[in-house]
Amino acid sequence: MTTPDADETGQQLTTKDGWRRFVAGQPKAPYIPSPSPKAYAKLPKETRQKLDDLRIDHHARLMVVATSTVRHTVTAGRRLVMLNRHAISARRGLIVSGPAGTGKTIAVTQLGLAHELNDRSVHPGASRRIPVIYATVPPAATARMIAAEFARFLGLPVHSRLNTADIIESVVGVCTTVRTGMVIVDEVHNISLTTRQGAEVSDTLKYFSERIPATFIYAGIDIEHSSILQGTRGAQIAGRFTLIPTHPFPYNDEWKGLVKTMEDTLLLHKHKPGTLVALDHYLHERTGGMIGALSHLIRGAAIDAILMGTEGLDRSGLDSIPLDVAATAQDRKRRRTSR
Ligand SMILES: Nc1ncnc2c1ncn2[C@@H]1O[C@H](COP(=O)(O)OP(=O)(O)OP(=O)(O)O)[C@@H](O)[C@H]1O
Ligand SMILES: [Mg+2]
Repeated sequence: MTTPDADETGQQLTTKDGWRRFVAGQPKAPYIPSPSPKAYAKLPKETRQKLDDLRIDHHARLMVVATSTVRHTVTAGRRLVMLNRHAISARRGLIVSGPAGTGKTIAVTQLGLAHELNDRSVHPGASRRIPVIYATVPPAATARMIAAEFARFLGLPVHSRLNTADIIESVVGVCTTVRTGMVIVDEVHNISLTTRQGAEVSDTLKYFSERIPATFIYAGIDIEHSSILQGTRGAQIAGRFTLIPTHPFPYNDEWKGLVKTMEDTLLLHKHKPGTLVALDHYLHERTGGMIGALSHLIRGAAIDAILMGTEGLDRSGLDSIPLDVAATAQDRKRRRTSR
């Protein structure tokens, strides 16, 4: 499965229009002719520049890889939707939880995408349906803010005159009318455990999950310990939700496969296939097994290779790409402990 990532193309997933654009697919990647290096060298300068721009754009796009996290999330989520179909209460849900940057958002948005595409194929032409809601919990959220996030996704007005209960009721009413079957709530760790405000947000989400006949999917850092699972209602949720933990990749066959998949997408004239696969251990150590850092590293080095005309990736090209703070810290820690 390779669909471009929504976030990286600056799309706003948290409104129904942005989400629809994501589901419809990004503007399709153009066909990029790949002449042999000799034929390429003979092309007029402007044609070469145009081709280079297309190739740079190709490497700048994130292709979503069907990692085990994505596959488990999609399979488990779709199974729950089917099991919940006839439930009038006690619907089951999914929690995707793990450290920052381990692919939680990508996994739940791919699940939402799969659900929405399935809903559309079963109900063709039913354009008023909104099968999926994707909302994020803002930092220091209040109950009103979370209700407003849902309303905003649905395109409902949120006047200052409306009180929180009004917004909640109109969200529940619209979700039922437009047959929302999946509600994805991301960044759940932004709910504060200790404040009354945080407890109210978590109660609002719990209330939504009781009133909206949909499968709820929560994603965030360390949600197992968040307030959403605290208290009596939290215990009920804990009893009904399946947990999908996410991690950095260990150095294993899946990692090697991931490197190969990314290497296969390269469009460089002089790249020797298999160079990156041979460097898979180095790539693991550099990135600490973080897929985001890996993708940034490979795509960044590929863009450099086009700009500088080297047209191939090797260890020194990869070495010259600086990584994010988390991956760099992991690498330093490893070097210290291996000394
Ligand atoms: N399946 C995938 N295919 C390709 N790239 C991926 C995939 N999953 C994650 N990534 C890369 O990792 C980056 C981080 O992924 P994502 O935003 O889903 O992580 P997250 O766990 O939601 O992070 P945070 O806790 O910061 O919200 C993405 O921008 C992307 O570059
Ligand atoms: Mg995320």
